[in-house]
Amino acid sequence: MALVGGTRAQTGLAVVVALGGLAACETSVPPAVEASTAPAEVPSTVSSGVQFDPGPVQTTAEYLADPRFASADTARGQLLSYACAACHTFGVAGGTLIGPNLHGVFGRRAASVAGFDYSPALTGSGLVWTPVSLEAWLNEPARFVVGTKMAFTGYRSPDDRRDLIAYLLQATQ
Ligand code: HEC
Repeated sequence: MALVGGTRAQTGLAVVVALGGLAACETSVPPAVEASTAPAEVPSTVSSGVQFDPGPVQTTAEYLADPRFASADTARGQLLSYACAACHTFGVAGGTLIGPNLHGVFGRRAASVAGFDYSPALTGSGLVWTPVSLEAWLNEPARFVVGTKMAFTGYRSPDDRRDLIAYLLQATQ
């Protein structure tokens, strides 16, 4: 009996070590236990689970005066936005496609277009859309807001995101 117990204990230890190893590899993934305990509450799905700092909320003109965006190629940004236009409209009277209308998105709280059926993940994200948060989102939406239903893989190039965001600043105001 004692021998069997010892064997079990060793097996258990091996499993714990293996799981520990896995957890160490996936430091940016929030613990699955938390996500499954309370479906009503979708906490910390943004990024690493830390409250995301979106930077200052400013006017579109102020953002566009930022040297990074002032030097952006908005014509290129417009080309990059065609990928978004499959699912989003940007103008004031634009309707809902697969995604919500993005008119006035800068300075707006995430998931606040009335009547749009957002994912619980985006609704519970607590995000405010600024160039900083949009940049993190557009890099890899599914990783930034785990559980989002925006099916877009992301723009990994910082230059692409700069040009696109500069264009969006103009097109959504
Ligand atoms: C395949 C369709 C699709 C594509 C392509 C797409 N989106 Fe989305 N987008 C969505 C959906 C659906 C949502 C709602 C996500 C949710 O509820 O989790 C969304 C949400 C958003 C939001 C949050 C809006 C809000 O009201 O909080 C922003 C900002 C956004 N998308 C920007 C973009 C940009 C910029 C692009 C192009 C680079 C893009 N999206 C490409 C479908 C898409």
